Amino acid sequence: MCGIIGYTGQNDSVPILIEGLKALEYRGYDSAGISVSKDNSIKTVKSKGRLDRLAEKIKQTGNIFGNCGIGHTRWATHGEPSDVNSHPHCAETLALVHNGIIENYAEIEEVLVGAGYTFESDTDTERAAKLIDMFYKKEHDPLYAIRKACRVIRGSYALGIIFNDIKDTIFATRKDSPLIVSKSDSGCLIASDIPAILGYTREYYRLGEGIIAKIEKSDITFYDENGDTTEATLEKINWNVEQAQKGGFPHFMLKEIHDEPDAVRKTLSPHMKDGLPYFDVPLLDTEKIASFDRIHIVACGTAMHAGIIGKTVIERLARIPVNVEIASEFRYRDPILGKNDLVILISQSGETADTLAALRHCKAEGVFTLAIVNVVGSSVAREADAVLYTGAGPEIAVASTKAYTVQCALLYLMAIRIALAANKISTGEAANLCASMLKTIPESIYDILSKNDVIRNIASRLVSCEHAFFIGRDMDASIATEASLKLKEISYIHSEAYAAGELKHGTISLVTDGTPVVALATVEKICEKTVSGIREVKSRGGYVIVATTPSLAEKYNIPYDSIIPLPEIPEFLLPFPLITSVQMLAYHVSALKGLDVDKPRNLAKSVTVE
Ligand code: M6R
Repeated sequence: MCGIIGYTGQNDSVPILIEGLKALEYRGYDSAGISVSKDNSIKTVKSKGRLDRLAEKIKQTGNIFGNCGIGHTRWATHGEPSDVNSHPHCAETLALVHNGIIENYAEIEEVLVGAGYTFESDTDTERAAKLIDMFYKKEHDPLYAIRKACRVIRGSYALGIIFNDIKDTIFATRKDSPLIVSKSDSGCLIASDIPAILGYTREYYRLGEGIIAKIEKSDITFYDENGDTTEATLEKINWNVEQAQKGGFPHFMLKEIHDEPDAVRKTLSPHMKDGLPYFDVPLLDTEKIASFDRIHIVACGTAMHAGIIGKTVIERLARIPVNVEIASEFRYRDPILGKNDLVILISQSGETADTLAALRHCKAEGVFTLAIVNVVGSSVAREADAVLYTGAGPEIAVASTKAYTVQCALLYLMAIRIALAANKISTGEAANLCASMLKTIPESIYDILSKNDVIRNIASRLVSCEHAFFIGRDMDASIATEASLKLKEISYIHSEAYAAGELKHGTISLVTDGTPVVALATVEKICEKTVSGIREVKSRGGYVIVATTPSLAEKYNIPYDSIIPLPEIPEFLLPFPLITSVQMLAYHVSALKGLDVDKPRNLAKSVTVE
């Protein structure tokens, strides 16, 4: 949802800005731009489209260089992607980049029009730039101007600003949108996210809400809302450069699917002790768990789909009712939250605006909140009562894969912990489950990775279709939701997930000759019923791809046109190789179609606006 980079230091800022934008392109990629300051003037180059177009334009423009600059890669909110709507936005005294949404931009525009301003773009950001410009012209004090403007602005923002008469200095501030600042040997940087600074430093400061940072060549000063200087905590980066690179794979998505076995181990191991689940948070003490009446899981997109898996497994093992809620709906529908309820927020980025807003709603209602987050120190992680980190490492592809797998793995482990505390399973059973998770999940994912060619062949059957369905029952129905999302978001094939028994209540009218239907069949107790659903599809000419184990296929005489053979492992853990297999299927369809797998149209990795 827009990437911001800024650099001031000993070197020319232009290559550093371009490299930083490349590392942030997953956050938005419909247009990009940079502004560089030199000798009391700011030069700006902006371009619709991908970064290489901007780089080409910079080359053509020629003489753009300078030690201090800001850059931006955009996911459009106000105004279509175009050169003029791209950031940075300039006013007479400054250039500014913004990530977020300014809700009262129309009011601000009215004030500015009254003061004689005119506008070039359709963006909320240009209004913010000109508002700061108006205040700057009054006092010639950048801190005053930014503070005054931020008091007027409603909405979310991370801002990077350079003034044409303040040499080699960037100002930054934020509210509800992420921004980090850091020092390196050759200068100081601002960025939306860690991958942009990984090549320069291992340490950074996460800018606090409402704090203004003044970033000079070798110094960073933080100011609080009253204008007094304040301290920030230096944090260490626990990712390395290689983790945020493709590592020889043609796409980040494929590389990240291959990361899954290791990511599962890195997620589970820190949360196991003496062979049992171990969560070092008071919220998951035995007594506390016993007091929970209900659990709510709140998240968006893929993370919400992991929540559905969490519901299935927690209810099955611990017999505690679990609601799964879409974060963007949650707080607006006045949810019933009891004092003995636990709310689990799930987020890869920890910056998703809807999830963060849901978390704040729960806190205001006095309900316990527990976050499952991948990015250390992110907003959701910091604001929840307790946090459990997943060990996926950086996830760059817009389509989430390894983050989902590890979210599911952690929810499984939590389910075992909750079931143990609620006396629904014995210590011996819990120990057996833990041991088998740690060993079998990574092994079974490797098994699926080795079936790459089989899955690619099946994918080739989907390439030319316009619609597809994923069906399954019980746990398989939960996984179908994510399988369907994966396919549609990167292949642009319309796809729907259905509980296999529900298809006949309407949707089966869409199944005609050759319609692909992917049937997930791993739950033995209901396999016969799933088979009935598959037969209904086949009798209407549907092309059935089944994902199941060879033994279930044989025992239940499952009809199919193609099969994704899953490894013969305990049913409880079959969801994991199944998840990987449907991620691979979606990946291959997209790659075979020649699409931009890692950057699907209209999307961005981290959705920091509501
Ligand atoms: O960072 P989060 O996990 O909070 O993101 C939530 C969704 O935006 C995200 O899972 C999205 O649905 C995926 N990119 C889809 O693959």
